[in-house]
Amino acid sequence: MGESPTATLRHVLEVDDLESGELARILDLSELLDPPQVLAGHGGVLLFEKPSARTRTSMEMAIDQLGGHPVSLSSAEVGIDTRESAEDLGRLLSGYGSVIGARVFEHHKLERMAAVATVPVVNLLSDDAHPVQTLADLLTLRQCFGHLEGLTVTYVGDANNVARSLGIGCGLVGAAFRISSPPGYRFDDVSVDRIGSVGTEVSVLDDPSEAVAGADAVYTDAWYSMGQEEEQRIRRDAFAPWRVDDALMDAAGPDAVFLHCLPAHRGDEATDSVLDGPRSRIWPQAHNRMHSARGLLLWLAEQRGLPGDAGPADADGTT
Ligand code: CP
Ligand code: NVA
Repeated sequence: MGESPTATLRHVLEVDDLESGELARILDLSELLDPPQVLAGHGGVLLFEKPSARTRTSMEMAIDQLGGHPVSLSSAEVGIDTRESAEDLGRLLSGYGSVIGARVFEHHKLERMAAVATVPVVNLLSDDAHPVQTLADLLTLRQCFGHLEGLTVTYVGDANNVARSLGIGCGLVGAAFRISSPPGYRFDDVSVDRIGSVGTEVSVLDDPSEAVAGADAVYTDAWYSMGQEEEQRIRRDAFAPWRVDDALMDAAGPDAVFLHCLPAHRGDEATDSVLDGPRSRIWPQAHNRMHSARGLLLWLAEQRGLPGDAGPADADGTT
């Protein structure tokens, strides 16, 4: 890629790979209606070890909207650490695309890829984190309330990748984060400290009704994540009191919005009446995946010294 001499290589494996101001800039860029074609003539390579509807489609569309060409590969085609090491894939794909996105089980695969890649590596979900989801969540909240600072976001359900990134994201924008999960499915102290490490005002509450009282947003995710499908039956029993239904939304208050990263398991973590109800913002949130992906790619291009034009290919012909 023809980058400026001052270019810096930035990876986004967790939300706090971004400073607060950088996060705000990405949200602003996400709302640019006529973005510069910073990826014209360039590729974006997306690897998926797990299924995806929103992430793959939104990333592919965002790359296209910036003039680039997306290439998506499944684990069956790539085999991270089976057919080829994460490091060798990082080296390889750096020569084909201006950005590498990867959805993996083990987070260390992303870290190892990023350690050797010469283009930005973006976490498209790992067992630990889902930062690109958090960007869309924060964009949606900002559009709902006009600001982020001072909001209270309550996450109800499994203490997982989505919750961890959301909690960290809340801290970066000055929002308070509350979480209520069933016994056995709560964050350990290390994870709570991790969320608090960016200054998040984080509260862990046993009672979901108490946790949502006065919250601006109630957020939930699946009770079992990809790779935990065999735990579905046992988790259903444990999580039932943490289902987001109309009574829980009423406990939050009339102005609270409902968010869910999706896909939803209707009737499990949230009822149809909440998912489809007047306080639900799940579809703007899902559609913001594309806008925030575009904002992130624009910001990454800025870091590489590409304010409006991708520039010429490198001397060795790579882009
Ligand atoms: N929310 C989310 O990441 O959805 P997908 O798994 O469909 O990409
Ligand atoms: N926690 C879920 C999120 C899916 C978008 C999972 O990891 O499967």
